[in-house]
Amino acid sequence: MIRKKLIAGNWKMNKSATEAAPLAQEIVAAAGRNTDVDIVVCPPFTALETVGKIIDGSSIKLGAQNMHPEASGAYTGEISAGMLRDLFASHILLGHSERRSYFGETDAFINKKTLAALKNQLRPILCVGETLAEREAGTTLKVVQTQIEGGLEGVTKDQVTNVVIAYEPVWAIGTGKVATTAQAQEVHAFIRGLLVKLYGDAIAQKIRILYGGSMKPSNAPELLAQKDIDGGLIGGASLESRSFLELITAAAAVK
Ligand code: PGA
Repeated sequence: MIRKKLIAGNWKMNKSATEAAPLAQEIVAAAGRNTDVDIVVCPPFTALETVGKIIDGSSIKLGAQNMHPEASGAYTGEISAGMLRDLFASHILLGHSERRSYFGETDAFINKKTLAALKNQLRPILCVGETLAEREAGTTLKVVQTQIEGGLEGVTKDQVTNVVIAYEPVWAIGTGKVATTAQAQEVHAFIRGLLVKLYGDAIAQKIRILYGGSMKPSNAPELLAQKDIDGGLIGGASLESRSFLELITAAAAVK
């Protein structure tokens, strides 16, 4: 298998630093030496330092959920890539649908963040996906194409292998409604094809494309077995160690 599976937990606005510590400890205890699967946890900003210390020395990586593209300055309430690197974060979620819909983030703004993240050695997990209305209107692939082309504008061939794409149909996030494996694989294959067009086949085959949206232990094995599904971006099921660890096991079991 040329792409190692990646399981990333997006804790969203859950877990104070105090609450995050035991969860991180449980993950390290059970999976801290796992090298079959890449594992990333993305706590809220206030828990990054605590979680970073707990996972230090293990194979678990630290991700943040958002950042500002500028290095510093008068951006009240914002956090830069450099600040995240200072806490030893290695990954950054960008363009999550909740950021797009509640905070008005556009592809152009997400692109600035992608470029700033790469410049600072943070690996972007660029999230894309259609709403239910867009799926019903038959525009899923067009929407995803616009988001990927916009998000990756100016990202070079050398840089793009550090980018992870997460396909998350908005209607499947936190709803319990998971995309069927066929629906997911169709979009993943389309994204792979688009990456081939943008960067050539050899590079496109190295880029991981995660599925996100109500992924849980019961549906993960089938999703993760699809040719172009290289892991999962997990919300709800990442908030308890038991379900998150089962997802890691499921990813490790795919041959
Ligand atoms: P969910 O969230 O697993 O709770 O659907 C996924 C995400 O928003 O990244």
